Amino acid sequence: MNHDVQKIIVLDFGGQYKELIARKVRALKVMSVIMSGDTPIERIQKENPIGIILTGGPHSVYKEDSLHADKALFDLGVPVLGICYGMQFMAHSLGGEVAPCAISEYGKTKTTIDTNSLLYKGIDTTTNTLMNHTDFVKRIPEGFVVTGHTKNCPVASMECPERKLYAVQYHPEADLSESGLDVIRNFLYEVCGAVGDYTIGDFIDKEIQRIREQVGDKHVVLGLSGGVDSSVTAAILERAIPDQVTCIFVNHGMMRKHEPEEVEAAFRGKHLKFVHVNAEKRFLDRLKGVTDPEQKRIIIGEEFVRVFEEESAEYEGSFLAQGTIYPDVVESGHASGAVIKSHHNVGGLPKETKFVGLVEPLRTLFKDEVRELGVLLGLPEEYVSRQPFPGPGLGVRCIGELTKDRLDILRDADYIYREELKNAGLKFDQYFAVLTSMRSVGVKGDGRTYGYVVALRAIHTTDFMTCEYAHIPYDVLDKITSRIVNEVKGVGRIVYDITGKPPATIEWE
Ligand code: XMP
Repeated sequence: MNHDVQKIIVLDFGGQYKELIARKVRALKVMSVIMSGDTPIERIQKENPIGIILTGGPHSVYKEDSLHADKALFDLGVPVLGICYGMQFMAHSLGGEVAPCAISEYGKTKTTIDTNSLLYKGIDTTTNTLMNHTDFVKRIPEGFVVTGHTKNCPVASMECPERKLYAVQYHPEADLSESGLDVIRNFLYEVCGAVGDYTIGDFIDKEIQRIREQVGDKHVVLGLSGGVDSSVTAAILERAIPDQVTCIFVNHGMMRKHEPEEVEAAFRGKHLKFVHVNAEKRFLDRLKGVTDPEQKRIIIGEEFVRVFEEESAEYEGSFLAQGTIYPDVVESGHASGAVIKSHHNVGGLPKETKFVGLVEPLRTLFKDEVRELGVLLGLPEEYVSRQPFPGPGLGVRCIGELTKDRLDILRDADYIYREELKNAGLKFDQYFAVLTSMRSVGVKGDGRTYGYVVALRAIHTTDFMTCEYAHIPYDVLDKITSRIVNEVKGVGRIVYDITGKPPATIEWE
């Protein structure tokens, strides 16, 4: 963590938007850190924040089981912005009253604001905000003034500028709040005195220094999956300690078409040792006859660890590098003391190892920051903006037994699908083909065929926790279908998956 830049602490009360808040703050060039709502006040002070943002949360502040921060936080002299539950917590803690709404508000809501407030500098008197609440502040604490209201919510925002305490019932972090980003910017720059000293460019220099200090003259081994996170990790390690890095790329045989070559190409000519382990046969041998999705995942995970251990055996006494990113380490809401947890994201690497320590250069960054960093470090834009690809690879997109022949059919169909979407100028958050285990009767020329059914999936999502299917134009689907059934032997029928998540998941297995 960079300790010498200004910092905002986002205190999490279990709301779904905590990461969105932290990302918006960073996009405004101020470092943000997420901590659990019940973090002790001394721990917060140690971070020396320029401001604190209290998130929303699912509870009612007046109920026993609700999550409470230490009230002393309002007396630190550090500016506080309470959002939704955060506002209710502020009101409740400082002698106001919170009660159930007569009419709950959900969605975009016309809001009238007092533009004399620093929080609303430069914003129109009426603006749309995203409301999502069943409780409201019925009576504000002494010393506070109301600075915003809606038709059904008398206190849409309140403040006590003398104590630098501000609060909004709506969600300024959500895009549906028209002036939301301005509200956050005003809080940072007008109230907290931010100078905007957080940039990814600075991050590189500081992190390189930190890696050098941590590692000394020891060697570092990185399990490179080819995904964005581990690739960017490799790129920053190369900058920091070029002659001390070995990247082990385990090709488990379930990569997409041309993917192993693409990964190699991205690292060819770089000053690091790149070991390409082709373990395709070994994985497929272990997976022979296995059709159960969970079994497949377990076997692929275990085998990955085994191969990695064997390949890294000669590096005893080295550091292990991982592409862990911030969302992997942030633990939400009701933490039992610990703020973060360690999360291994490279297919579950060995827990007990001969490595002397972990190097995780990206553990304070969000995904979009990782992509930005990758480009600054010289990785091709197209490479770092690739869609996510699961650790078990095509293993979870090839329903039924995993054989080389079936994986090749899937690889070819998937390649055509991706190529035609690209030709049509379409890009979705995730899109891929699935080879089902079903075969279907067809006719080609005068003959009967009995080929596999391939399903196509394309989705819109921001968080990958939920998704909606993408509306691919029919003419594009026509072209994809015609090419796949004509060019890929063994495929007889194409279907398009229009299920959202929930109830489906993004992957089929
Ligand atoms: P589901 O299928 O659970 O997927 O809706 C959500 C997102 O996670 C990806 N995914 C994985 N990523 N290892 C990973 O690194 C895995 O085992 C794994 N399984 C699913 C999936 O591609 C989607 O983006």
